[in-house]
Amino acid sequence: MSATDSTEAARARLTKALDRRFGDAAPLPDAACVPGIAQMAEHRTHRYYDGRPVDPALLRAICAAALSAPSKSDLQQRDIVIVEDKDVRRRLDALIPGMDWLPAAPALVVVCANNRRQRQVHEWRGHEFANDHLDPFFNASTDAAIVLGWLVLAAEAVGLGCCPISVIRNNAQAVSDLLGLPEHVFAYAGLALGWPSQPGAITPRLPLSVTLHTDRFDERDVRAKIEAHDRRRASIQPYRTQRAVEKFGRMDDYGWSEEKARQYAVPERADFGAFIRRKGFDLR
Ligand SMILES: Cc1cc2nc3c(=O)[nH]c(=O)nc-3n(C[C@H](O)[C@H](O)[C@H](O)COP(=O)(O)O)c2cc1C
Repeated sequence: MSATDSTEAARARLTKALDRRFGDAAPLPDAACVPGIAQMAEHRTHRYYDGRPVDPALLRAICAAALSAPSKSDLQQRDIVIVEDKDVRRRLDALIPGMDWLPAAPALVVVCANNRRQRQVHEWRGHEFANDHLDPFFNASTDAAIVLGWLVLAAEAVGLGCCPISVIRNNAQAVSDLLGLPEHVFAYAGLALGWPSQPGAITPRLPLSVTLHTDRFDERDVRAKIEAHDRRRASIQPYRTQRAVEKFGRMDDYGWSEEKARQYAVPERADFGAFIRRKGFDLR
């Protein structure tokens, strides 16, 4: 395949994926039309797998690739726990409510934020840890989030499908106890992985005109643009179910904004701050 052919093949993939994702991503320069960018644009979460196991060596390699991600000041305040033991896995699945698909996922890893090692280094080197405030929690969470994103990219690059799991924080203390996570280390998110049993679909995102700004934050016409996204989402990927129908009723034009407003109309993980403080973080 010539360079022109591969640019055109990537352009076709990218155009198709970004059109569905945003609706306003064009134009695409040749420099963007490379397989790596097309692969990112084609991302989709997979929750259903064909049952084939994930080779532990492959999983380890994916974790190594993800842990190659940039890290704030090279502090490396994130770790991954691979859940191999069947009993630990069964107990962990039971602590993650509302995900009937999860027990069938062949592999599960847990991305942890880890500010403990930094504090240990201070102790070993005899230097005061003079940053006991919100920043270490934020930085460790950021490092963990980046690794989660890179895990997804690495998994998808080898053809695996995966689904991040923030619901692992619904039972944060029990998960921490089960995985033996010490002070200043907490489960940021799980990631289920397996070989996809279905092609899946590219979920539309808000248009770039809402989320991509130049020079100054720009909220012009944001409500009208989000309402247009609601209609676009409803036409190409309608929600299969509506949230909390017993409380809010059923709507014909149920779109993204109604879904998201309903989601946070119900308290979620209100005890997480207290858990994080118990982990030793000072959130001032
Ligand atoms: C940090 C994070 C946590 C997530 N937690 C969950 C979860 O607990 N359960 C779930 O089914 N999906 C979870 N997801 C997947 C999102 O629901 C999914 O990314 C989103 O609906 C967009 O779909 P897409 O990834 O296919 O584009 C999570 C994603 C991220 C990034």
